[in-house]
Amino acid sequence: MDKFLKAMHFRHACKIFDENKEIKEEDFLNILEVGRLSPSSMGMEPTRFVVINDKKLKEELRAICWDQVQLTSASKVVVLKTLISPLLPPSNYIDSMSIRRGNTKEKREAWSKVYANFLESMQNKGISLKAWTQKQAYIAASSMMNYAAYIGIDSCPIEGFDIDGVNKCLGLDTFKESVAIILTFGYRIKEQQKRYRLGLDELVEYR
Ligand SMILES: Cc1cc2nc3c(=O)[nH]c(=O)nc-3n(C[C@H](O)[C@H](O)[C@H](O)COP(=O)(O)O)c2cc1C
Repeated sequence: MDKFLKAMHFRHACKIFDENKEIKEEDFLNILEVGRLSPSSMGMEPTRFVVINDKKLKEELRAICWDQVQLTSASKVVVLKTLISPLLPPSNYIDSMSIRRGNTKEKREAWSKVYANFLESMQNKGISLKAWTQKQAYIAASSMMNYAAYIGIDSCPIEGFDIDGVNKCLGLDTFKESVAIILTFGYRIKEQQKRYRLGLDELVEYR
């Protein structure tokens, strides 16, 4: 089995971490770097990473996250929040994402129209801007957890929380941004529980 596949077997949703084991700063920075390098639709990079170091804040978050012990036993807690209003066209943020590519004003305006039409067609199909930006955070989250497993670090994604509660706890302006998912990283204190997965024959169809 190659190293990446081995890592995918190693990765599991770690329910409790060893509080005495800290992730090396260099490893953690690489996990963040993987998040930074993740793809995003239209290259909008809407995901922001809030590293929670404060012990009291971790305890407050744990209370909002169904009292899940991962929040206080993990070596690292990262809240992935996502931009909302800056992604509403027209905006300086959208323009800046195009300017950095060296695009001319005409090109930027044309691109902005394509983007606005894309968002509108999604909204017409019932997918809100917030839901769309949150999807981007999940892509980064997946890459970060997979990379962590690749270097022998455990993780657990946390979606079990009251979203308004977390936004309030972090003092977010919910017009501008919102929490998407929380990631916890550390080292397992006990063995991985049995893994249940459907077979490829049940999941894959060929046409
Ligand atoms: C988006 C997402 C949110 C999740 N939220 C939680 C959570 O709040 N608490 C938890 O213990 N596990 C959470 N999990 C972990 C899943 O329960 C777990 O991945 C699934 O049961 C499969 O187990 P495995 O990851 O160990 O293979 C979440 C997983 C995903 C993908």
